[in-house]
Amino acid sequence: MPRILGVETSCDETAAAVVADGKVLLANIVASQAAKHAKYGGVFPEAASRAHIEVIYTVVQQALSDAHLSLADIDAIGVTRGPGLPGSLVVGLNTAKGLALGRGLPLIGVNHLEGHVYSLWLVENSPEVVFPVLALIVSGGHTELVLMTGHGQYTRLGGTLDDAAGEAYDKVARLLGLPYPGGPSVEQAAQTGNPTAFKFPRAWLEGTWDFSFSGLKTAVLYEVKQQKPGRPMSAEAVADETPPDPALVPHLAASFQAALVEVLVGKTVAAAQKYGVTEIFVAGGVSANQALKAEFQRRAPMPVRTPPLFLCTDNAAMIAAAANFRYLAGQRDALDMDALPNWKLG
Ligand code: KG4
Ligand code: ZN
Repeated sequence: MPRILGVETSCDETAAAVVADGKVLLANIVASQAAKHAKYGGVFPEAASRAHIEVIYTVVQQALSDAHLSLADIDAIGVTRGPGLPGSLVVGLNTAKGLALGRGLPLIGVNHLEGHVYSLWLVENSPEVVFPVLALIVSGGHTELVLMTGHGQYTRLGGTLDDAAGEAYDKVARLLGLPYPGGPSVEQAAQTGNPTAFKFPRAWLEGTWDFSFSGLKTAVLYEVKQQKPGRPMSAEAVADETPPDPALVPHLAASFQAALVEVLVGKTVAAAQKYGVTEIFVAGGVSANQALKAEFQRRAPMPVRTPPLFLCTDNAAMIAAAANFRYLAGQRDALDMDALPNWKLG
């Protein structure tokens, strides 16, 4: 029963966790920097890497102490190698390398997107996974549709051509005058809104498994500025950050969310049927969204797994869970392993 220490610093969460046997969570520490980035309406890379440096040591110590373990009890260290912000990734990588070197422990580099998929192995009492499964990874940085035929075996079917789903939520939140991170605040505003109040575009990109959300975001922008789509907007109008009439915000949020969810679910279910998968896995920050989960339950003929809320957004437990399978498969990385900020899955 390997015990893996996971380390994750790809974006604005400094995280460490201990996972036994790839599925038993012994400790899970996440230090969020969201408050530091709120004033920018998104993650500010330089501030992120500095904040990781400030807390990473404490976060790792806390994870070991919560697990009632010391490094002597750990079998391997799994660390996010990419994709992510270069300056943030190296903080976690260097920490993991130092610990591995100091204790003579195996070091395993993990793809952050693979980590999100393995968050589903941490769901208690879930049935054994039967491959192939289709994974939709929806986060602030990614929207990826990946066919998984075995542990560590991925074929990428498609992904976003522009904004990631979470990024669209964050940008629309800003347009609507709602706080960062945008996903939870737009979802909350949408609860009292009419999802058919505004007819926002759905980019189906027929014949591909790709997504596009920038047109949807621009349509919300035009509606907020009350300008006709297709007509060029003045630079002053775009720069003006006055939020819309508060009475309209729930309807704008609900109509935006309905368009985004319809396309995400529609295309994922179509791909799942085409490839004959046993299950759909939905992971990443946006998988916390209730409207998305409800629409999947309504439309998918096969089971759909989503992580519990605390494992949807970035954490190191998912990195440790993914590292466990790589550890068992014999993966050992060298101490000169570098960060891969644009690392693709499949
Ligand atoms: O996976 P994650 O923590 O970080 C990345 O790897 O990017 O995802 C963060 C993203 C943010 O864009 C956030 O707005 C979005 O996930 N998010 C949500 C919800 N909670 C977080 N989007 C929609 N609905 C939510 N409830
Ligand atoms: Zn993530």
